[in-house]
Amino acid sequence: VSGAFDMERVRADFPVLRREVADRPVVYFDNAATSLKPQPVIDAVVHYMSRVSANIHRGRHLLSEEASEAFDAVREKVARFFNAQKTEVIFVRGATEAINLVAHGLSLKPGDNVVGTILEHHSNILPWSSRCQLRAARLDEHGLPDLAHAAELIDESTRLITVTASSNVTGVIVPVERWAALARERGVPLLVDAAQAAAHHKLDVRALDCDFLVCSGHKMLAPTGVGVLVGKQEQLERLSPLNTGGGTVSLVRDDFTYVQRDLPWRLEAGTPDIAGVLGLAAAIDYLERIGFDAIERQNRALTSALDAQLGTLEGLTFLRPAAGVARTSMLSFVEDTHTLAPDYFSRILSDSFGIMVRGGHQCAHPLHHRLGVPGSLRVSLQFYNTEEEIVHLRDALEQTLRMFVSRAPRA
Ligand SMILES: Cc1ncc(COP(=O)(O)O)c(C=O)c1O
Repeated sequence: VSGAFDMERVRADFPVLRREVADRPVVYFDNAATSLKPQPVIDAVVHYMSRVSANIHRGRHLLSEEASEAFDAVREKVARFFNAQKTEVIFVRGATEAINLVAHGLSLKPGDNVVGTILEHHSNILPWSSRCQLRAARLDEHGLPDLAHAAELIDESTRLITVTASSNVTGVIVPVERWAALARERGVPLLVDAAQAAAHHKLDVRALDCDFLVCSGHKMLAPTGVGVLVGKQEQLERLSPLNTGGGTVSLVRDDFTYVQRDLPWRLEAGTPDIAGVLGLAAAIDYLERIGFDAIERQNRALTSALDAQLGTLEGLTFLRPAAGVARTSMLSFVEDTHTLAPDYFSRILSDSFGIMVRGGHQCAHPLHHRLGVPGSLRVSLQFYNTEEEIVHLRDALEQTLRMFVSRAPRA
């Protein structure tokens, strides 16, 4: 695979890649669960903790000012990254919290409904289904969520439409702009789950014309514990806060009534994950330094190599969209005889071959059920992976299948 960047130098930035498992350098193929963290991100966190450490917006001493200025600059960076205003960026713990914040904020009632898709992660299902009716658009023959079906599901009680920008199981990339057009036409806000997409593609909320976009820092090279809700100003203003407390009010009166601050503060209660937010800034810098063109090119080449290598193995069924439909760099599959449960299979790959892949339902029970499989193995790649690692995976799969799975017809 040839990239526009120096692979050896890039890999040297990720210290986990120097770790050995099963007597060989670890192969990390679980990037959709969380990405590896490059040294500049680690350095940003260590710098804050060892040199600054102060809280933000709580005092005027030097260390607090330093922390506040650095923190505020990240909001501007994130706003620029997604082409939003800085008051439209809300720091949260991750995509899950962002979706819960919107679900709570809309004050959904049992008679309401939200229109989503069968492709969604549990985190983009439960916050809706626990509050109101969730209606899920089916998949079309290409493996994309069916927009025409979604249109049929919308009625006067629909409070929101939601769709993932790319699936964490099949990797299919959804043409979000078309969902936004439907949402506009029907006068319903659209929430885009960009938890997977944000680490792979340049996302522009103005161009997408979505009302809310959510993502998790930890899937895009940043630390765990920080994520972002980006929303149109007027949509965020409609949300009632999920959490209240310090930082959200300009005044608390003697009778304990209070005056809320403006956006973004009224939606960010308590001390935020300052180290995580500063790490997110370093992650964005890193992604931009590599460049999304190079990231996409590299990941497309790796995905072709993955399809080609695993495609020669017998006894696997792949969960992916139809040929020619764009997808992010992942491949989920099922071992046809179900001799090895996915989590057991992934443990063999880990402990015997040093390869980390996800095994299980991938927080997508309804999708697996619809596809008729109990669970799957998922290989998810990022730009620092190599073709050699993919060849090692192929050999490991071949050996494991040969050792454990009998191809003889059952009596
Ligand atoms: C598509 C999708 N949405 C939401 C989430 C939830 O992200 P987090 O656990 O970081 O909140 C994930 C995580 O795997 C995901 O893949």
